[in-house]
Parts: sequence; C-alpha cells; structure tokens
Amino acid sequence: MIKIAPSILAADFGAFREQAKMVEAAGADYLHIDVMDGHFVPNLSFGMGVVSALRDATNLVMDAHLMVENPENYIGLFEKAGADIVTIHVEATNHVHRALQQIKDAGMKAGLAINPGTPAVMIKEVAHLADMILVMSVNPGFTGQKFIPQAVQKIKEVRAMVSPETDIQVDGGIGIQNIREVTEAGANVIVAGAAVFFAEDPAAAIRSLRENAYQN
Ligand code: DX5
Ligand code: ZN
Repeated sequence: MIKIAPSILAADFGAFREQAKMVEAAGADYLHIDVMDGHFVPNLSFGMGVVSALRDATNLVMDAHLMVENPENYIGLFEKAGADIVTIHVEATNHVHRALQQIKDAGMKAGLAINPGTPAVMIKEVAHLADMILVMSVNPGFTGQKFIPQAVQKIKEVRAMVSPETDIQVDGGIGIQNIREVTEAGANVIVAGAAVFFAEDPAAAIRSLRENAYQN
C-alpha cells in the first residue's frame, strides 16, 4: 500500500495548521516534518514545537525527519511533541544502533535515513532495527531539488536487505514523472514537497501520484 507524505518544508510557513488540514482533506497519509539544525545540513527549519502545534490540528501520521547532528539528544522531546515516526540519519551519530533502540523504547516507529553519497552497506548492521528506511534522492536541506537517479538502484539494494514488513521511504524530487520507477524499485512511502504544495490543486496532485505509482 503506497503512502503519500507531503513535506511541510514546501508549505506556507505562515499557515502550517491550515496547510496540514488541507493535505489531510486532500488524501495524504503522513505529514512529513523536515527538522534541520544548520549543522548536519546547510539550512535551518523548525523543531518539535511545530510537531506539537500540528499534532492537535490533524490526525495524520506525524513523520519527523531529523536532519540534525546527534539526534539521540532530541528523541524524548519529539515523543512528547507527538511524533509517530522519528527518522534519524546514519551519518548523524556514532551510535545509530542505540539511537534506533531509543526511538522504539519511546514507543515510536524508528526510521533510518541514508544520504545520496552514502552506500547502502552502511546501514546493513542496523537495518533490521528500523521500521522504515529513508533513501534520500536529493542531498537533504531544501525543497524543490532535482531527483538523483542513483537512488533507484539504492532502493533496490535496501529492499533486498530488509524484511518485507519494513517500509522504504524515498525523499527528494519525487513527482508523477518518477514515482513509478521508485515504487517499482520497492519504495512504498513517498515524500512529496513541491509536487503537492506547489500544485494548483493538491488533492489532484496526490491522486495522480497514487495513480502513477506501482502498487507494491
Ligand atoms: C529535503 C527534505 C525533503 C524535501 C522534499 O531536505 O528532506 O523532505 O522537503 O521536497 P521535494 O519533494 O520538493 O524535493
Ligand atoms: Zn525529508
């Protein structure tokens, strides 16, 4: 079952609650929340305050993508804020194994993200601990970037590495032009920033993403 996760990084920052309600009504499954610290990525965005403000506004799954160094320092705070999924980067901590366990111990789903420049083998020892692997298809930091096609091969490698129950999320530069190939490769949770929030009709955009996806 394909899940669509609009990224509020591409939303109107002055109207997060309304925008979250809008994508919920438009048929989204998750709300993807891109947290950036200005160190792990060359941009700053927002933190757990935005998660807790949006928690009250929608019933969408709160999917927090932490692009921060030492994410283990914030896991408890995201749990308190109401996150359902916390995704950390394999490149962001020396103790990935422990951090994934901490997320699960806090009662949330654990996601593990991997940058375009990092080979799939880097997550091999810990992939079984994650509920979801996030394959980045752009270098994290900004919405509206161009899809890096090598992500397709990496999704296939990750699909072969994990159990069938493990979700594979893909993030960056996804739209109707490439959703078919990433879902055929094995991705089932699709982040879409620009493709949803910059669309004239976000509900139609979500519908056509689903229609163009391979149902895996
Ligand atoms: C990039 C973020 C993405 C981004 C996706 O750092 O992790 O979630 O918002 O935006 P699009 O779909 O516009 O590439
Ligand atoms: Zn993201």
